[in-house]
Amino acid sequence: MAGMISPMEIDGADQPPKPNKGKSAVIVSSDGKATPWVEKYRPQSLADVAAHRDIVDTIDRLTNENRLPHLLLYGPPGTGKTSTILAVARKLYGAQFHNMILELNASDDRGINVVRQQIQDFASTQSFSFGGKSSVKLVLLDEADAMTKDAQFALRRVIERYTKNTRFALICNHVNKVIPALQSRCTRFRFAPLDASHVRERLKHVIEAEGLDVAESGLAALVRLSNGDMRKALNIFQSTHMASQHITEEAVYLCTGNPMPKDIEQICYWLLNESFSTSFKRIFEINTRKGLALVDIVREVTMFIFRIKMPSDVRVHLINDLADIEYRLSFGCNDKLQLGSLVASFTRARSSMVAAA
Ligand SMILES: Nc1ncnc2c1ncn2[C@@H]1O[C@H](COP(=O)(O)OP(=O)(O)O)[C@@H](O)[C@H]1O
Ligand SMILES: [Mg+2]
Repeated sequence: MAGMISPMEIDGADQPPKPNKGKSAVIVSSDGKATPWVEKYRPQSLADVAAHRDIVDTIDRLTNENRLPHLLLYGPPGTGKTSTILAVARKLYGAQFHNMILELNASDDRGINVVRQQIQDFASTQSFSFGGKSSVKLVLLDEADAMTKDAQFALRRVIERYTKNTRFALICNHVNKVIPALQSRCTRFRFAPLDASHVRERLKHVIEAEGLDVAESGLAALVRLSNGDMRKALNIFQSTHMASQHITEEAVYLCTGNPMPKDIEQICYWLLNESFSTSFKRIFEINTRKGLALVDIVREVTMFIFRIKMPSDVRVHLINDLADIEYRLSFGCNDKLQLGSLVASFTRARSSMVAAA
């Protein structure tokens, strides 16, 4: 996952490259072209973190006052949780980064033995004070919801014992997978999905820095498809950029394989107006020609149904049917049959609309 970064990569270009102790590092070619944009444009300081102003300001203040509590940051992916903690660490330790932080994420073994040994060893050794700055160490447990329950229980005691010179920062997507005992030992912050304006602003920053040619419609498509996940936005953006020079709406959709809004409109038109067999044939044809996934179509059509006018009891049934189709598709049921089911649901909805009229 892109959220993982080893300490080697962190402190920027001014440092000579250090030998890599077996952890994977992002390979940077001389012109920097190979760097994934998610790493290249990772916020370096707290001020760079877009959105979540209140959270970031609070953490910033606590850091300044040397009163950093144990932290639990949670929320959907790509909202800046890891970046925020790394920025805090950079602010606290500067060049001493490597000595003062122990970072473990889901790809490291974090069973109960690691909690008992590695984390305790790190937490229990005294740290030197650098330049009068705080000497608390930081243990960063990324993707903490993937830790076993046993390890979490063991961690509970460790957190308490070493509070004097160590702070723990837990990061996770699903806060309910972290045991309550750990939650109550930390200050919780929820990172909501970024709103469209922040994603747009951040993308504009990248456009400027890279000197790219991006159509307004392309930018809007990136923002729409990202759904508030900045990592997703940057990844789609970079792969579209690699595929085509001009980043237009069409290029973005082509790159992700998502159905274009105008295709969805066309499909909905067929579903609402054509006979069963014509609808089925046309949708099947456009699906094969454009290589669309039926599950994407079902999701988008559902959004479309929310927007158009129809009697509410018809809408209720229709949406329920679509939800069933989506559920079945997620188990890998036959696409052609499910497409039949989609057209059938609309046929039924139309007859009940006629009956109601
Ligand atoms: N709030 C944000 N402001 C600016 N960039 C962000 C923000 N959130 C995410 N990003 C971008 O997305 C990438 C992934 O962010 P990360 O902090 O690892 O997300 P998380 O840990 O919440 O999944 C970062 O490298 C950065 O480029
Ligand atoms: Mg992360």
